[in-house]
Amino acid sequence: MQEVLTAIVYALPAYVTNGTPVVVLRVLGVGHPLDRGKAFWDGRRLLGDGKTFEGLASGVLAGLLASAAVYTFFPGTYRRFLESALLTLGAMAGDILGSFIKRRLGLERGRSAPVLDQLGFMVAALLIAWLPFGPPSWANTTSLTALLLVTAILHVSTNIMAYFAGLKEKWY
Ligand code: CTP
Ligand code: MG
Repeated sequence: MQEVLTAIVYALPAYVTNGTPVVVLRVLGVGHPLDRGKAFWDGRRLLGDGKTFEGLASGVLAGLLASAAVYTFFPGTYRRFLESALLTLGAMAGDILGSFIKRRLGLERGRSAPVLDQLGFMVAALLIAWLPFGPPSWANTTSLTALLLVTAILHVSTNIMAYFAGLKEKWY
């Protein structure tokens, strides 16, 4: 149980990075698409209108603030500050890669891709943060399974809340 709590605190920057753009884009109204409206070889959008410069900047900024907060208030969670920063960068990269994959599969922006939508950002965040440092001491099959389960539940429940708060068009 202790390991699962540690895992969730460890993963906080990735959650913040993933959640911030939804709120920021709702406040801003519109953003500038990262792919600048361009299509890929298959004729479909490279990423689509759901990945914007504003979302990227706000997500990374908020994620880095969250990682600085965890680094400061939960010392020992990360081996280096870089590890927490990589969780933020990895979460954003994973989210963008997820949209790239969805477009290649022919899924329009905002369509649901189960598992990829809920866990893609977290898997990417962990892989990128562990690249230079290796897995942290809390990581084992049980704690990782629990983290991914919590992530999926959090993703679905915050999406439903965001839907009812008028932040999102779709509940999923
Ligand atoms: N968002 C953004 N920029 C990002 C990530 C997210 O502007 N880099 C905003 C967009 O307004 C997006 C919302 O956050 O609609 C929710 O993100 P997400 O569910 O990842 O995007 P979708 O609209 O579902 O698009 P996709 O099908 O590409 O996942
Ligand atoms: Mg989505």
